[in-house]
Amino acid sequence: MKKKYTRRDALVGSFLVVGSAAANEVETSKSITPTQIEGPFYPDMDNNLTKVMGSKKKPIGKTIYVHGKVSDKQGKPVERAVVEIWQTDNKGIYNHAGDPRQADRDINFQFFGRSVTDKNGRYFFKTIKPAAYGVRDDWQRPPHIHFKVYRRGFEDLTTQLYFSGDPLNIKDGIYNNIPEKNRKNVTVDFNLAIGLDSKLVKYIGDQFGQKKGIENSSTVGLFDIVINTVV
Ligand SMILES: [Fe+2]
Repeated sequence: MKKKYTRRDALVGSFLVVGSAAANEVETSKSITPTQIEGPFYPDMDNNLTKVMGSKKKPIGKTIYVHGKVSDKQGKPVERAVVEIWQTDNKGIYNHAGDPRQADRDINFQFFGRSVTDKNGRYFFKTIKPAAYGVRDDWQRPPHIHFKVYRRGFEDLTTQLYFSGDPLNIKDGIYNNIPEKNRKNVTVDFNLAIGLDSKLVKYIGDQFGQKKGIENSSTVGLFDIVINTVV
C-alpha cells in the first residue's frame, strides 16, 4: 500500500531544507584543502629536460640548448606564450605507450618540456639531441623536436624543429611537405657553446641557474617562431 504523506513528513522535510540552507552558509567559510607533496606521478614539465624530478642521474646523449623569440607577423614579441616540446631520447624512443620500446627508454630523460616566454618573447630549453627513428623499413624520421606554441589571441602552432645538415632531412616526407623556401624556418644550426658570444652563453646559463654559463661541449640552436593572430 502506498504510504500516506503526513504532516509530520512535511515538518521533517522543511527541517531538511533548513538544514541544507545552514550547510550552504557554512560553505562560505570552508577551510583550504590541505597540501601534500607532488609524488612521482605529476608530469615533470619544466624547461630542463636533462633533469628528471627526484633523480640525480643525467640522460644519455649530447646536451643541447634551444632558445628563440616568439613574435607576431610584425615581429612584435609575444609575452607569456606557452612553448611546449616533446622528443625522443638518445635511442630514438618516445615516452609514449604507442612506442613499443618502452623497456629501453632512458628513465633519466624528461621527454617533455614547457617554457613560458618572457617580456621579450624569449623561451629557453635545455635538452639532449634526439635520435632518428624508423617509421617503416623504408622510412627513417630525422632527429627532430616537436613544438606546440599557444597564447590567447593567437592561433595554436604545432611544428617540428630539424637539425641543419642532417642527411635524413631531405629524405623525410614530413619535412618535404614544407614548401622548399620555408624549410629554413624550421631547420636550425646548432653551434658549439665555446664559439658563441659570452654574454649570450651567460644569459642562457642564468635561465638554468648555472653560474658558470653552459657546458663547452654543448651546442646551442636559435629557433625563432612566428605565430598568427586570431582574426
Ligand atoms: Fe616525432
